[in-house]
Amino acid sequence: MLEVIGLSKTYKTARDQVLAVDSLSLQVKERDFVTLLGPSGCGKTTTLRCVGGLEVPAKGEISIGGQTVFSERRRINIPVEKRDIGIVFQSYAIWPHMNVFENVAFPLRSRGGLSAREIQERVREALRRVRMEELIFRPAPQLSGGQQQRVALARALVKGPKLLLLDEPLSNLDALLREEMRIEIKELCKGLKITVLYVTHDQVEALAMSDRILVMREGRVLQEGTPSEIYHQPQNQFVASFIGAANLLEGKVQTLAGQFADVDTKHGILSCVLSRGLSSGDKVLVTVRPEEIAVSRHAPQERKNVLVGKIAAVSFLGESLDCRILVDSQKIRCKLRAGDGFHEGDEVYVQLPAEKTLAISY
Ligand SMILES: Nc1ncnc2c1ncn2[C@@H]1O[C@H](COP(=O)(O)OP(=O)(O)OP(=O)(O)O)[C@@H](O)[C@H]1O
Ligand SMILES: [Mg+2]
Repeated sequence: MLEVIGLSKTYKTARDQVLAVDSLSLQVKERDFVTLLGPSGCGKTTTLRCVGGLEVPAKGEISIGGQTVFSERRRINIPVEKRDIGIVFQSYAIWPHMNVFENVAFPLRSRGGLSAREIQERVREALRRVRMEELIFRPAPQLSGGQQQRVALARALVKGPKLLLLDEPLSNLDALLREEMRIEIKELCKGLKITVLYVTHDQVEALAMSDRILVMREGRVLQEGTPSEIYHQPQNQFVASFIGAANLLEGKVQTLAGQFADVDTKHGILSCVLSRGLSSGDKVLVTVRPEEIAVSRHAPQERKNVLVGKIAAVSFLGESLDCRILVDSQKIRCKLRAGDGFHEGDEVYVQLPAEKTLAISY
């Protein structure tokens, strides 16, 4: 549905040039919800703006629904209004001097060719989809943040585009509303069978909403996969630590045994799943998620992958405890059940299940 090949974009500033997007390629299948995830400044907005036709790339090709909308080589650059897309921007993007109806009607009016009645019907339909029909004549400044974002969404959808581009649409909302709107947007998009390219720096949002995630850093895609693949099989340190809290222990691969490898660390030999392309002798990082670690007061029967430590800090998070356990001067983060009754200073056994412990390239 959407294909981007070798996209590069540089911005010229007074002093120098910024390479915002660096030979980036991506594909989004029809009806998929794909998220660009990465830290501030990694090029997410720039990529989205290039796809939307709001920025002229330096290099590359972009096609939407089989039509080439940009090609540097073939000198094609279809303007934004002729690309079959809807866009919602990072900050509130509805016009304050218009009411809800006028905001949503705007894209239809500027295209022309529709009667007043058709416009009415389409606007009402779009507003119904985002549950804003009742506020149709409310002036924009009298809407809450969540309502404003719903109007922006209705405006992006009113022309019935094939592709929806969303740039951090929830970033101005409070935590509770953000969580609610996540589900709402995802369900709305699935219901409309629309293809979505979504941008966020919030990993929880990306994991919760996406069919696929592209993790970006410095204008490039570092890893692509389903939320579960990105979370459970990070291929490098950046992805492991950016997505969720990961423990990272340095080591060196010793011997391989099928899918598992023995990795020599300063805490002894740890049995791990070896990520693709690594072999014995390689320096690696052993990574394991806090919720995969088993902690007990008594020595477990299983002796493999068991470390001895002391609880250095405990934070109560409601349904769970976030614990830092000190093992030979290394802090290991674990998520424990709130009822387990662990306290600071407790001596504990920390077990890293081999099948959940991954060795990734250093
Ligand atoms: N108009 C501009 N002129 C010069 N540099 C720019 C311009 N817009 C963006 N940049 C630079 O390009 C890089 C990528 O910016 P971009 O806005 O795409 O990042 P982002 O991933 O969307 O970040 P954020 O999460 O903060 O929104 C950054 O280094 C930024 O400073
Ligand atoms: Mg941005």
